[in-house]
Amino acid sequence: MDGIWAKIKATNFFKSIYRNDYPDTPRSRVQVILNSVLLHLHPVKVPKSAVKFTYTWGLGGSSVLMFLILTITGVLLMFYYIPSIPQAYFSIKGLETNVTYGMFLRNMHRWTAHGMVLLVFLHMTRVFYTGSYKPPREFNWVIGVFLLLITFLLSFTGYLLPWDQLAFWAITVGSNMAGAVPPAEYVGKYVRFALLGGYEVGQSTLIRWYTLHVIALPLTAILAMAVHFWRIRKDGGISSPGESGDVKE
Ligand code: HEM
Repeated sequence: MDGIWAKIKATNFFKSIYRNDYPDTPRSRVQVILNSVLLHLHPVKVPKSAVKFTYTWGLGGSSVLMFLILTITGVLLMFYYIPSIPQAYFSIKGLETNVTYGMFLRNMHRWTAHGMVLLVFLHMTRVFYTGSYKPPREFNWVIGVFLLLITFLLSFTGYLLPWDQLAFWAITVGSNMAGAVPPAEYVGKYVRFALLGGYEVGQSTLIRWYTLHVIALPLTAILAMAVHFWRIRKDGGISSPGESGDVKE
């Protein structure tokens, strides 16, 4: 068996995938991280204190997990949902009653969305509490605020899609609030028009928010997350207790 394994490892094909030897020295371990497209997003070295669960509470990672679940369940929902006023509500009703595990799928998406808002907020609270927004991580805090905004916008645009009374009136209230941005005559009026695709909530609003919800916002979130993770690495990995904040172990 060892002989076959040694032969496989000697092939050019194997070497084109795994460019390093078995990672058992500090140098070969660093090389494995640097040579992998996925692993290189991660810092090469992580201080022991930073992986202590009660430091990060896994809140950033859990936010990513929520995003992944939302992407998978969201794509599956797209197989059934129809973004047109006469059909939107009934496509969701049909999904709940006629499709196997349809209600489960819808609820997975909905509850995970609530979970993501909560977890991102808690993650931000942790970052604040441990003082991890301080130098050199100020810019990552700013990207974080942007991610928080995207998370809210994803939730809000998704809210309209079932086209039930709750959705319709929530969007009416929300877009009227946007319409009040001062000076309303010059800013609010146009923001409201852009959001609604007209003067009142209707088909143009639905298709606009659907496109934002399934394409524009998720892609922006993915891009912002990539920068967020890359920044963590460039800022020397996750902060350590007492390093940037006032909190000591
Ligand atoms: C979609 C939303 C977000 C995702 C998926 C995300 C993901 C992550 C992950 C995985 C980490 C590694 C450490 C950890 O798990 O706690 C992290 C760190 C960090 N995040 Fe976020 N984050 C998000 C939103 C935010 C927000 C809203 C803020 C602040 C306004 C923020 C600021 C930071 C900072 C400053 C760090 C570095 C913390 C340190 O070094 O201790 N992030 N983020």
